[in-house]
Amino acid sequence: MVFDIISVVPELLRSPFEHSILQRAIKKEIIEVNVIDLRAYGIGNNLQLDDYQYGGGAGMVMMVEPLDKCIKTLKANNDYDEIIYLTPDGKTYNQSLANRLSLGNRLMLILGHYKGIDQRIRDMHVTMELSIGDYVLSGGELPAAVLVDSISRLIPGVIGDGTSALTDSHQDNLLAPPVYTRPAIYDGHAVPDVLLSGHDKNIAEWRLSESERKTKEIRPDLYDKK
Ligand code: ADE
Repeated sequence: MVFDIISVVPELLRSPFEHSILQRAIKKEIIEVNVIDLRAYGIGNNLQLDDYQYGGGAGMVMMVEPLDKCIKTLKANNDYDEIIYLTPDGKTYNQSLANRLSLGNRLMLILGHYKGIDQRIRDMHVTMELSIGDYVLSGGELPAAVLVDSISRLIPGVIGDGTSALTDSHQDNLLAPPVYTRPAIYDGHAVPDVLLSGHDKNIAEWRLSESERKTKEIRPDLYDKK
């Protein structure tokens, strides 16, 4: 899977891919992350990227031309499964979208700043608009890292244990059950007996019932979707 990410602050996207699971996935060439600095397409001597919005109002808007040229260059060289704009006014991202996107080969991510991007870019190029939650961030870089991470870990070979991603919270619209590791008793707090029993069927039943209990309590909206 290749991620081509268009950003005005590419430095913000360095660290998330330089450690742990994503770093290994890049080294193993299971994923490739290309961060494209939009400034290279800026206009005039100042390499301008944003301008005042028509109709007035606070906040700058990312101009159509630099983004259009950058996107056209990428499109001329590659085929994209989706061209995604990350924005708080997009559709809410979730695990089932991550699952779907993980089946593709190449995604383009467009990251906004300021008041967002000129609507014409959305009309001309964007195939999917996603928000990572009902709050506003300063730019699309953190949401992009969220997308790359959540999609990559579903691709075979990225995480060590192939079944592990399937038992994550949100697969099946259930939250994950509690997990424990050694010691069996810490400061008077014991690990549930069933997990020490070695009885696989009872353990599986306990995990499912704990998942259901947690989901009903914490996320009844998810439970109702089951
Ligand atoms: N950019 C700013 N806030 C965002 C959000 N919540 N989701 C996606 N992109 C964003």
